[in-house]
Amino acid sequence: MNFSLEQYLDRLNSPSSAVLEELYIDTWLHTMYPHMASSPLQSKFLAFICKLLQPSRILEIGTFTAYATITMAEATLAKAEIITIEANEEYEPLIHTYLKKSGFENKVKLIIGDAKKILPDLQGLFDLIFLDADKVSYPEYYVTLKQLLRKGGLLVADNTLWSMKVIDEKITDRETAAIRLFNQLAASDKEMEQLILPLRDGISLIRKK
Ligand SMILES: C[S@@+](CC[C@H](N)C(=O)[O-])C[C@H]1O[C@@H](n2cnc3c(N)ncnc32)[C@H](O)[C@@H]1O
Repeated sequence: MNFSLEQYLDRLNSPSSAVLEELYIDTWLHTMYPHMASSPLQSKFLAFICKLLQPSRILEIGTFTAYATITMAEATLAKAEIITIEANEEYEPLIHTYLKKSGFENKVKLIIGDAKKILPDLQGLFDLIFLDADKVSYPEYYVTLKQLLRKGGLLVADNTLWSMKVIDEKITDRETAAIRLFNQLAASDKEMEQLILPLRDGISLIRKK
């Protein structure tokens, strides 16, 4: 994003909480791939969705340092439940530190492991699902997550423009192909409605009718 636009938005958008600001800095200082975290703008977008929808059950695929997890925890009622799945156990200490700092240790259940193996065992339906994990598996996640979403529920998927590679037909690597297929699956599914927004790396809102 254009630097002066970013500064303008930063100045006028409501600020992030102190704990989210601290976690964002910690993520950039202490992890190898800090860009994997949602941006503050994206986090505010996710928070707005949560405030408008007030989901009681949320599922996140791909926790990383829990920046989006804590964003969603802050923006929902105390009784809401968030299940978040992360494959890389290296992030577990940082996640727990910040769940404790933010006071959401009881609201958030972290599951360490491969989401593809864990999802079939989850019970009940979810009001909101945030998909933000391995891109090659997006089409597989689409099928599983659709079943876990209640009618009227929202699937939010990150990186659905994949650095704009999806619109360049010459690019055919596995991740780009998987994201194209994911976008197409949602577009052609009569039971879902899709809105792909060019926010950061592309964020899709996919609602189950
Ligand atoms: C882009 S980051 C998530 C960012 C986080 N949702 C946020 O908004 O700050 C993607 C995360 O997915 C995790 N991941 C990749 N494959 C996974 C899988 N099969 N199951 C669970 N987590 C996975 C990665 O280890 C990484 O931490």
